[in-house]
Amino acid sequence: MEDKLKIPRHIAFIMDGNGRWAKKRGLPRKFGHKEGAKVLRMIVEECKNAGVEYCSFYAFSTENWKRSQDEIDSIFDLIKKFADEELDKYADAGYKVKCMGDISVLPEETRNSLIKIVEKSKNNNKMIVNLGINYGGRAEIVNAVNYILSQGLNKIDEQMLSDCMYTCNMPDPDVIVRTSGEKRLSNFMLWQSAYSELIFIDDLWPDLKKETLYKIFEEYSKRNRRFGKE
Ligand code: FPP
Repeated sequence: MEDKLKIPRHIAFIMDGNGRWAKKRGLPRKFGHKEGAKVLRMIVEECKNAGVEYCSFYAFSTENWKRSQDEIDSIFDLIKKFADEELDKYADAGYKVKCMGDISVLPEETRNSLIKIVEKSKNNNKMIVNLGINYGGRAEIVNAVNYILSQGLNKIDEQMLSDCMYTCNMPDPDVIVRTSGEKRLSNFMLWQSAYSELIFIDDLWPDLKKETLYKIFEEYSKRNRRFGKE
C-alpha cells in the first residue's frame, strides 16, 4: 500500500529563475516577475487546498537593491498590485498576511498597501502567507540580538532569539524549496532553517506547476519517513 502523503505545516519558497524565464523568451526581466506573481498565487491556493498552514516566500532580499532601478521599481509595483488585489482577497477569505523584513524603506505606496493588508488580516487564522520583503536572515538575527541587548539583558537563549524573529509564533519551515537549480539559501530564514528539509528543483519559478508542488510533497514525505531511522 502506498504511504500517505505528508503535507508540511510550513513550506517556504525561494522563488528563483524569473529573470532567466523572461530572458529565454527575449522579454525584459520584469515579465518574469509578473509571471512569477501568478505562480505565487497558484501555489498559495494549492497549498491551502492541501492543508498547509504556513507559506513563506522570498520576494525581495536585502541584496536585491543591487539590481537596476527599473527592475526594483517593477518588483515593488508588482508587490503593490498584488497586495491591493490578491492579498486583499486572501484577507477577506480569512488568511493572515505577514511580512518579514524591513518594509519601512519601501516606496510609500507599496509599504502602505502592505501595512493595510497586514493590519486587515491580523486576526485571521485560516492560513498564514508570510512574505519576505527587504528580508535578510543575517540582518534578522542581528536585529534580534540588538533588541535583546537594548532590554538590558546580557545572556540569551534560543527561545528568546526565536521570539525576536519576524517569525515569532510561527513554526520553523518543515521544508524550504528553491527553484531554478541553484542550491543555496542566499540569506533566507537562516535561524529558522536549522532542521528544515531542503528541496532544490530545476524548474524556473514561473514554470512551477501544481504537479511539481505535489512532487515536492512526495519528496518531503520520503525524507520524513527516513527521519530518525537507520
Ligand atoms: C528571483 O528571480 C526573484 C526575485 C528576486 C523576485 C521575486 C518576485 C516575485 C515572484 C513577484 C513579486 C512578488 C510578490 C510578493 C507579488 P531572479 O530575478 O533572481 O531570476 P534569475 O536568477 O533567473 O535572474
